[in-house]
Parts: sequence; structure tokens; C-alpha cells
Amino acid sequence: MRKPKLQLALDMPDLKKAFRVTQKVSEEIDVIEAGTMLVLEEGMEAVRKLRVLYPSHLILADIRIIKAGGKLAAMAYDAGANWVTVMSDASEDTIEAVVNESIKRRGTDVQVEINVGYDDQRLSYFRSLGIRQLIYHRSSEVVETEEKWDNETLNELQRLAKMGFELSITGGLDVSDIPLFKDIPVYCFIAGRKICKSPDPLAAAKNYQDAIKKAFHPD
Ligand code: 5RP
Ligand code: MG
Repeated sequence: MRKPKLQLALDMPDLKKAFRVTQKVSEEIDVIEAGTMLVLEEGMEAVRKLRVLYPSHLILADIRIIKAGGKLAAMAYDAGANWVTVMSDASEDTIEAVVNESIKRRGTDVQVEINVGYDDQRLSYFRSLGIRQLIYHRSSEVVETEEKWDNETLNELQRLAKMGFELSITGGLDVSDIPLFKDIPVYCFIAGRKICKSPDPLAAAKNYQDAIKKAFHPD
């Protein structure tokens, strides 16, 4: 199976603190995420500076577009992002504006974050636009009491993968959770606090990568 990527979410509202982490762990990270809180606090400067410091990394701007899609996506790409996030329940106009600015105009990519409810019609609509990446975000607001990764969720993720989606998995994800996904062709695991708040962020990132390699036996 293809090795899933490891995405580091930088959600601290402070670029200096973010750089303190990235300079320790960048070699173990495949995708650097300018997190929602970081971008709200520091603006696109966060993306711009990450791009200068990490020219070869994929950079995601987690700007959770719900409106003004084309313009917001353009701002992130002009700052150096490769990917942006858009919410699954944005209007069709907004989703299409993001896709036009991303996949069609710039050859960049979009992560659609699944929000409250979706159905197969909505999923087929995403596929028809050329959207591949879906984020499955556990729990969302009540992060202290994360839902379990139960069989129902894992089966649903397997079904989404079979529909052709590249899945990103996130939400308080622990290294010990990784083996649960071993039969699902996960595209990306997204980890934030467990790396950023670790006393040894490099060791924490390495632990994720080791767990991913062990579970997925990449070629
Ligand atoms: C939260 C996010 C986070 O960036 C993502 O969930 C990863 O962070 P953590 O591992 O700390 O949950 O988008 O809304
Ligand atoms: Mg995020």
C-alpha cells in the first residue's frame, strides 16, 4: 500500500512558536499545515513565511472556506500554499469557485472537510468536480471527549476510499490509533497537539512515521 503522508497541524496563534516546532520536525513531516488559528492570527504571512522556510514541503492553508471561495483560495495560493480546505457544506457556487481557482486554474488541490452530514449525492457531486481529498475530522469541538474510532466509522472510511477519495484523518489522533486504519488506503494522517505540545516534537513525529510504516508496509 502507498505510505500515508504525515501532516503537521500548526494551530498555535503565534508564528514564532510554530517555527520552533517546524525547525525541529520538518524532516519527518510530509505536509505542513498553516492551521486555522495560526492563519486567523497571523494572516497569509504565516503561509508566506512557511513557504520561504520550507520550499520543498507541501503546505496546506487550513482556512476552512465557507464563502468567498475563489478569492480566499487565491490569497492562500499567492502566499505559497499547495492546498486549501473548504467545508463540505459550503454552497455549490463556493465549492466550484474553489475548484476553479485550485484544480482547474493552478493545478493545486483542495481538501474538503466533512462537516455536519453528507450523502452519496453530495459525494458524487464532489467527485464530478474532480475533488479527491476528503478530511474526516473526529469530534470537532469537544476535543477532550473524542469519539472512538469505532467499526462503523472505519467501515464508512473504507467506503469513501472505495469511491475514490483520498482520505485525511484527524482530530486528537494518537500514534496508538494508526494501526486501526491499516486496511484503509489513508492518504494523510493529520496530527497537531500531540506533536506540537510534546516535550520532544521530533521523537513524537518519528513515532507517527514509524507507526505509519509498520501499519501500512509501504512498497
Ligand atoms: C482542528 C484542526 C486541527 O488542525 C487538526 O484536528 C489537527 O489537530 P489535533 O491533532 O490537535 O486535533 O483542524 O480544528
Ligand atoms: Mg487544522
